[in-house]
Amino acid sequence: MADEIRTVALLGGGVIGGGWAARFLLNGIDVRLYDPDPGAARTVGGMLENARRAYGRLTLAPLPSEGSLTFAGTPEEAVSGADFVQESAPEREGLKRALLAAASAAADPDVVFASSTSGLRPTRLQADMDRPGRFVVGHPFNPVYLLPLVELCGGERTAPETIERAAALYRAIGMRPLVLRKEVDAFVADRLLEALWREALWLVADDVATVAEVDDAIRFGAGLRWAFMGSFLTYRIAGGEAGMRHFIEQFGPALQLPWTRLTDVPELTGELVERVVAQSDEQAAGRSIRELERLRDDCLVSVIQGLRAHDAGAGAVLAGYERVLMAAAPPGPVRADDAPLRLHDAVVQPDWIDYNGHAHESRYLHVFGDATDALLRHIGVDPSGGGSYFTVETHLSHLDQARAQERVHVTTQLLGHDDKRLHVFHALYRTEDDVLLASAEQMLLHVDARTGRAGAAAAEVLARVARIADAHGALSRPDRAGRSIGLR
Ligand SMILES: NC(=O)c1ccc[n+]([C@@H]2O[C@H](COP(=O)([O-])OP(=O)(O)OC[C@H]3O[C@@H](n4cnc5c(N)ncnc54)[C@H](O)[C@@H]3O)[C@@H](O)[C@H]2O)c1
Repeated sequence: MADEIRTVALLGGGVIGGGWAARFLLNGIDVRLYDPDPGAARTVGGMLENARRAYGRLTLAPLPSEGSLTFAGTPEEAVSGADFVQESAPEREGLKRALLAAASAAADPDVVFASSTSGLRPTRLQADMDRPGRFVVGHPFNPVYLLPLVELCGGERTAPETIERAAALYRAIGMRPLVLRKEVDAFVADRLLEALWREALWLVADDVATVAEVDDAIRFGAGLRWAFMGSFLTYRIAGGEAGMRHFIEQFGPALQLPWTRLTDVPELTGELVERVVAQSDEQAAGRSIRELERLRDDCLVSVIQGLRAHDAGAGAVLAGYERVLMAAAPPGPVRADDAPLRLHDAVVQPDWIDYNGHAHESRYLHVFGDATDALLRHIGVDPSGGGSYFTVETHLSHLDQARAQERVHVTTQLLGHDDKRLHVFHALYRTEDDVLLASAEQMLLHVDARTGRAGAAAAEVLARVARIADAHGALSRPDRAGRSIGLR
């Protein structure tokens, strides 16, 4: 299904519809959006801007060229000719049912309709639709362009194939579908979130904690664990060697104690609302929603990238998505221009940063090592074949600081070569403003895989090196080439 989707119709372009628009567009899918509010274009534009910024930091995998965004005057116009429909209108059953009924009558018969509803039952939402078998709940999480989870829940009339088709599309755009085993109000995630939200409101209503203190209780403790192990796996560990059985024996009885007030719903009196709003304003400390969104997105990017290093949780989803994007990208051209080669781009990863907020010095060598690998690929070295180049000497100059999530790139100039050696000069730049951050001069020696000793590289490799050397012969020698430790 995913390959067949070129155009998606979005019904509703608020917080969630705007997030869907950004995710689809950045994945190369055209979007046709209907929202009766003329302000929707501004919301969607802001969301898209946030999403572009976040993806620029999240991944270096080659994304397809961005899809096009058009606004439709009616739901019927939006869905006509679309390959998939995602409804994200306000959470009111009557409104959604009428919208889905009208739109489904105008859409092509095979087109899947998904609803972003946070908790309404699909059986009721699909009741008035034309061909209700093609309806499914596809419940995402804010920001839709970064969080991978999408809960899929079918109604009584949903065809199993509808769920499979929606899941395939969501997977193709980097998401992690979770298919519910049965239909239930509020699905899985919102049941958990609402339980926490009710209890949090009680703690504020009873004056046990402020809104900021409730948030501290989450973000300095269990919140850190949830991102990669959820609830059950962390409790298994908490049970020690005896695992989950011991955990239940130890803490099971506490469930009988009146620790929580979950079954009661706090009354949202004027006084409670005012207290929550005032404390929330204090907590925000004058930061605008846009500033908070960017802070949220930057932190999410760091967490997801950190998890990718361990192939855990949302990081594993990102790694899988990147593999698919890489495989789909056309191979780069083999170039030998009369300019240093630009073969390696990177994003400064959170775990490169030391306590001072700068990239640790060892990471500069790491980036230059990656640039050398890129050069070896560029000249056709196949380490599984005859041999490869080993780095025998590096001189590194640290010139400026790299900070978390900045994009950087390396240019590479060939200073000299013979049949065994490559003498190269790498320069590391911050991509945004082309500031030179560091340089590295390296001598590489070709080692024959069979003998384990220095030996000539393959003829094809040497031919490519010669082409680059011809082009680079016209370049001036970098100032820092040939330096040892500088003494002034
Ligand atoms: N906000 C969240 O965190 C969140 C998370 C997951 C799911 N959802 C669900 O997503 C849906 C949308 O929520 P939201 O937070 O984006 O709300 P929102 O109020 O930000 O956006 C709703 C949009 O729908 C538009 N709209 C009103 N009538 C419409 C109609 N007849 N047809 C099409 N559009 C119409 C509004 O103008 C508005 O732009 C709801 O079902 C909600 O439960 C919300």
